Amino acid sequence: MGADHPSAARVYDVLLGGSANFEVDREMAGRMLAAEPQAVRYARANRRFLRRAVDGLLDEGVDQVIDLGSGLPTVGNVHEIVHAVTPDGRVVYVDVDPVAVAFSQQLLAGDERTAVVQADVRDVEAILEDPATRRLIDFDRPVGIVAAAVFHFVEEDPAPILGRFRAAVVPGSYLVLSHLTTPAQMSRETVGVVRRYRESTGSPLTFRSRNQVVDLFAGWELLSPGVVPVDQWSPELEDLEESADLGPVPIWAGVGLRSSV
Ligand SMILES: C[S@@+](CC[C@H](N)C(=O)[O-])C[C@H]1O[C@@H](n2cnc3c(N)ncnc32)[C@H](O)[C@@H]1O
Repeated sequence: MGADHPSAARVYDVLLGGSANFEVDREMAGRMLAAEPQAVRYARANRRFLRRAVDGLLDEGVDQVIDLGSGLPTVGNVHEIVHAVTPDGRVVYVDVDPVAVAFSQQLLAGDERTAVVQADVRDVEAILEDPATRRLIDFDRPVGIVAAAVFHFVEEDPAPILGRFRAAVVPGSYLVLSHLTTPAQMSRETVGVVRRYRESTGSPLTFRSRNQVVDLFAGWELLSPGVVPVDQWSPELEDLEESADLGPVPIWAGVGLRSSV
């Protein structure tokens, strides 16, 4: 598979130390890191939040996950987190990027507990009605809807989209979400890097403030500690080797519970 332009998914994979990327992505990541060396820390902090949050869902007995904007099968995949605890857990990966989907399908070939659906997160019905989703996910039991670092690629209001996922799942289900913050809350270096990322990947980015991200949890009971920088979301759940002195990560994170109301 060749690539002429860097893609959002593959540049993120480079930052995470993954190997599912091309020279053009590595060049782009190199330029980003020259301008903002903290970009690696941000990507890894997001990925670690994902792990802590999914571990939390597993602790609550939720063993089926729909991972929206799942990206490349890179370091710390959701199915690995799930299967480490519940070998029969179900994971449906969803991504719009055909390369990410092809890589994921290769990785997961023969694994009957997982599937990869190529779809846009805005096509909620296509995702929910996909035969792979119907085969793997039991909608009579709680489901984890994971939307990590994906909705800043969606310009339209994500709240109604998330509301449609909420309507499809039973009480006891969870929403795990992270989202890039606004330029006002980023360092100058990060703003420059984000702009470059947007220009070279061609992915439009929509920034949302903390309040706007809180609004995405409408209808979900936002769990403690609420919407916070991704590195500050229950860091006590893992051994963090990094110093907090480096400043907050400019990505919001939160977890919501679908209660019975
Ligand atoms: C930064 S990666 C995040 C990967 C993973 N969720 C994580 O947080 O570690 C964002 C992913 O969202 C995907 N994406 C962007 N817009 C999307 C859309 N409208 N529908 C589905 N996936 C999308 C990209 O292809 C990319 O793989």
